Amino acid sequence: MSAGSGSMPDGPRHIPVMLPDVLDALLPKPNETYIDGTFGAGGYTRAILTAADCRVIAFDRDPTAIDAGAALVDEFAPRLTLMHRAFGEMQAVIADIGLAGVDGVVLDVGVSSMQIDEAERGFSFQNDGPLDMRMSREGPSAADVVNGFDEEQIADIIYQFGEERRSRAIARAIVKQRNAAPLMRTKNLADLVLRVFHGRKEDGRHPATRTFQALRIFINDELGELERALGAAEKILVPGGRLVVVSFHSLEDRIVKRFMAERAGKADQGSRYLPQKNIQVSPPSFRIVNSRPLTPQKGELDVNPRARSARLRAAIRTEAPAWSTVSGSG
Ligand SMILES: C[S@@+](CC[C@H](N)C(=O)[O-])C[C@H]1O[C@@H](n2cnc3c(N)ncnc32)[C@H](O)[C@@H]1O
Repeated sequence: MSAGSGSMPDGPRHIPVMLPDVLDALLPKPNETYIDGTFGAGGYTRAILTAADCRVIAFDRDPTAIDAGAALVDEFAPRLTLMHRAFGEMQAVIADIGLAGVDGVVLDVGVSSMQIDEAERGFSFQNDGPLDMRMSREGPSAADVVNGFDEEQIADIIYQFGEERRSRAIARAIVKQRNAAPLMRTKNLADLVLRVFHGRKEDGRHPATRTFQALRIFINDELGELERALGAAEKILVPGGRLVVVSFHSLEDRIVKRFMAERAGKADQGSRYLPQKNIQVSPPSFRIVNSRPLTPQKGELDVNPRARSARLRAAIRTEAPAWSTVSGSG
């Protein structure tokens, strides 16, 4: 779905993370077509369209981001197409548009500053709001999970997607509290987690950080989306096309790192004493650009502390056919 007309609302803006590094890795050229899978405030899209007389197909699953992007569609007409779709669907979208392939795919995964800063979206434990956390504003919310799932399911989500060692204690406290009254606000949940930690912060971070991350990842199927997007990018990038991914926590970065290493024929083949779980049968479909991920420069962190955990990985598509399986997690 393309964005209709509308105006850019006033409000908190998003500072694009590692933008010069993204452009260096993507290398936009005239007459080429790029996918920006995470349009957000349009920071990357604007920079790509400004760097070269190229075309961008941009995706965002958040209807608010799509509405706010209508002014940019007009400004760069006809070179920008904005799609209200999840980036995991990019292969089908490109086929619907009638494109045979694209020259670059960039993903800046996670949430935008607008989403975090707007209390009503329910992503933040610092600004009290409804326990929502749905980027697309559709489907089950965080309140549905904490009030409706059983204790073990809640603990597993917090452990798996938040890497939270106290997941069982937090899930137990959630169930105890919801038996008295449902948890409906972000502050209720943040205070509950703080009580489980006896009010202690760790490295200056609120102990609810990991629980909120876990619920957000689960609600939006963020890791599944990332895996689908990587597999789709492999299929739609032309030889020489570039895949650039900026991620913000270890669970995402691990998926990107493994995917690129595997497709570049550099995956760890495991111990020779154990059965081989990952025998490469296909020629490499990607060449890795940097063996180590790029991280933000100090100057960037001074103006945008939210960039502190960013990791950029890039790979270039080879001539080899796409592999038959979607991987990256195994
Ligand atoms: C970190 S922001 C991107 C900011 C953007 N690079 C910029 O410079 O303005 C991430 C955006 O991606 C969107 N997003 C996250 N996961 C998505 C998915 N699976 N499909 C489509 N959009 C997604 C979010 O709604 C959010 O607007």
